[in-house]
Amino acid sequence: MQKTQIYIQESKDRFLQELIELLKIPTISADSAYAQEVIRGAEKVAEFLVNAGAENVEICKTAGHPIVFGEKIIHANAPTVLVYGHYDVQPADPVDLWTSPPFEPVVKKTDIHPDGAIFARGACDDKGQFFMHVKAFEAMMKSNELPCNVKFMIEGEEEVGSENLGVFVRENKERLKADIILVSDTGMLANDTPSITTGLRGLSYVEVEVTGPNRDLHSGLYGGCVANPINILTKMIASLHDENNHITIPGFYADVVELSLEERAEMAKAPYSEENYKKALNIDAVYGETGYTTPERGSIRPTLDVNGIWGGYTGEGAKTVIASKAHAKISMRLVPDQEPGKITQLFKNHFESIAPAGIKVVVNPHHGGEPVVTPIDSIAYKSAAKAYEKTFGKVPIPVRSGGSIPIIALFEQELGLKTVMMGFGLDSDAIHSPNEHYGLFNFYKGIETIPYFFHYFNEAMS
Ligand code: BES
Ligand code: MN
Ligand code: MN
Repeated sequence: MQKTQIYIQESKDRFLQELIELLKIPTISADSAYAQEVIRGAEKVAEFLVNAGAENVEICKTAGHPIVFGEKIIHANAPTVLVYGHYDVQPADPVDLWTSPPFEPVVKKTDIHPDGAIFARGACDDKGQFFMHVKAFEAMMKSNELPCNVKFMIEGEEEVGSENLGVFVRENKERLKADIILVSDTGMLANDTPSITTGLRGLSYVEVEVTGPNRDLHSGLYGGCVANPINILTKMIASLHDENNHITIPGFYADVVELSLEERAEMAKAPYSEENYKKALNIDAVYGETGYTTPERGSIRPTLDVNGIWGGYTGEGAKTVIASKAHAKISMRLVPDQEPGKITQLFKNHFESIAPAGIKVVVNPHHGGEPVVTPIDSIAYKSAAKAYEKTFGKVPIPVRSGGSIPIIALFEQELGLKTVMMGFGLDSDAIHSPNEHYGLFNFYKGIETIPYFFHYFNEAMS
């Protein structure tokens, strides 16, 4: 991999300039006003894949945003790595909280990234990360050191639930044949503490609407006489946790796999400072389920959180009104072996059952996803661990993450393939938030580490 590494060192500036080009395209999948930009993003990804040396590059139409596919088959008997990532991004709002415009990337230094970080929506999630694979592939190709077959599947709908990717996977099983799926769309503990993500939480997401009277009412004439939907909704939501912050929905924990004390002790060995955690968020205390540490609460335990709530008058000044309706969006993060469909149904039954007379409740499910846990004794995991050891000089720590990538469970079901999650982001990179950024150290370290994964994986498979 020596020529590959030299190629990378000599191409660093160009790699960054190319990433900047990609980051300038506002590929916001959730907002139909950006549909044309999403297509432009897919075309750019395809162009980069072709220039890197991929063959059969295709922008595959779906019922939604396109999927970019490309491959390089060096030998029928060589192991095949399927790289998955997403070129779509979250909406940038609230835009006024950004210190530079979200689609005008700039490099700035931060305390955590003294070498600089690139600030833009999608810098870390996931353009900066999947692009590392494109550049690592290019470096191996141009250096004649590509040891494995590679397939790329870069989608445009991850941030909105990957529904059409599911269809694509089912219809393209032959084309997607591989030995392992490789994904960089997660994080690691710190720049001097490499880790490999070995689990993701699942997701059940619902929107609720509660309706009281058939119209907005004068809060003087009717106040005190009818159920106020906002009062009731907030009360119903508050009742979903008990005094120990356990979730009160009957059956919610029935399928949760409890970790053994040994497993929890192993987890606790990963470096973590509660002081730094609080400092970074400017809070004087953490908050969560009794009996679990903060890292446990954020990875091996399920949660229920309101993500948005609205209703009534929120404009300037006062308007004395009882709203007819109140709404909330609620996410539940799930752990093995909770099943999103079942959890959504439990939520719906329970939420409807706790509504008082005089209130109507509608629960609308959104997209969901299953949790995943990946093995650490597999050839692929061990190859990844060796690659990190080579470039970081440290053995990476296996860590279960709290985020979700719903399609990964589906890859296993439909393609029978395991995934290795080599994520190089940091929790402090502000993904989905204003001022999202990705460290240049992380970007380049990822590009350097990926070829070693290919090298060790090929070595171990042959
Ligand atoms: N890349 C993230 C997930 C992630 C980030 C996992 C960091 C682990 C560490 C992904 O793009 C994402 O945002 N997923 C969504 C779910 C999706 C259905 C919208 C999430 O976790 O909220
Ligand atoms: Mn992502
Ligand atoms: Mn995301």
